[in-house]
Amino acid sequence: MITVKAPGKLYIAGEYAVVESGFPAIIVALDQFVTATISPSDTFGSIVSKQYQENSIFWQRRGNKMVFDNRDNPFHYILSAISLTESYAREAGRELGVYHLGINSELDSSDGKKYGLGSSAAVTVATVKALCEFYHLSMDKNKLFKLAAIAHLSVQGNGSLGDIAASVYGGWIAYHSFDRQWLAEQRKTASLTDLLAMDWPDLNIELLTPPADLRLIIGWTGSPASTSHLVDKVALVKAKQKSEYQTFLAASKACLKRMIQGFHAHNLAEIQAELRQNRQLLQTLGTFSQVTIETPMLKKMITIAEAAGAAAKTSGAGGGDCGIVLIDQAINPTPLLKQWAHDGIERLNLNVHLVGDSPISKA
Ligand code: PMV
Ligand code: MG
Repeated sequence: MITVKAPGKLYIAGEYAVVESGFPAIIVALDQFVTATISPSDTFGSIVSKQYQENSIFWQRRGNKMVFDNRDNPFHYILSAISLTESYAREAGRELGVYHLGINSELDSSDGKKYGLGSSAAVTVATVKALCEFYHLSMDKNKLFKLAAIAHLSVQGNGSLGDIAASVYGGWIAYHSFDRQWLAEQRKTASLTDLLAMDWPDLNIELLTPPADLRLIIGWTGSPASTSHLVDKVALVKAKQKSEYQTFLAASKACLKRMIQGFHAHNLAEIQAELRQNRQLLQTLGTFSQVTIETPMLKKMITIAEAAGAAAKTSGAGGGDCGIVLIDQAINPTPLLKQWAHDGIERLNLNVHLVGDSPISKA
């Protein structure tokens, strides 16, 4: 039996801007995993997952058509990952087989709570990895990222794919998203084998080392949010409020550049200052796009953390899910955590998943 795992993720900074080609975000991989197992079968195959199933679907009416929205259902990412990896296996001359695929996730709680830790990305990466082993396809991290990104993109259609990068590379990363328009064009003519060997415009992934005095604390709001719907809403302002949007993009890029320098300089204070700056930029984006990124619960979480001397902001698309705190190791976090608990904010006691190999990858 083949067993592989892929970690979940959390955005630290650069959200929404990173959806545009070449714009940066900082993301971490977490020590919570999706595990995929495969065993060969000579009769029928199966896909079994306790957490991810096709038991309810969302759709919209478009004229006579019922249009399905599968983007928030990780089960569809499993199917897409299988289809892509099998196409790649066929290109490599493999004969396709029959198997039982099992998917188990630590990223959603056993009582069905959704934390927003990147389950759809981790499920995609784990499925691609498992099938590559099953078909004896050699994969390095660059290729795994590319194949999983294509599979994820064909279901979600609108993200930066930063969550895939975090799941593939682990640790702390600075991720610059690739040009998805270019990829869509290439997909019409290039084989997967060729695509995986190409340099993808604007893609850049750098592993960052956090300063020794940095402690990451994660707070959970208790309410789930849909990244794909929030990204859709923000995308609507691109045309309507062009200049505000362009200002936001430029400011986010400059802020992330300084934050990345803060990592290079092992300077926690600089990283914290830019985290606060990034929070403000996202607040401005929320205001002019009329999208609730920082919900009252997230605001409370951040205010409590700031009062304790830490820097904090929403994580990812916001609208619920998690907030993150960067605090000096020298500060005792107990009072902050007590205040959170008192106000109904749950600390998720997770750590960053660190990996030793391949420190820097310019894809
Ligand atoms: O809410 P999350 O953790 O899935 O993060 C979404 C981050 C965005 O930048 C808003 C979207 C994206 O795909 O990068
Ligand atoms: Mg989210």
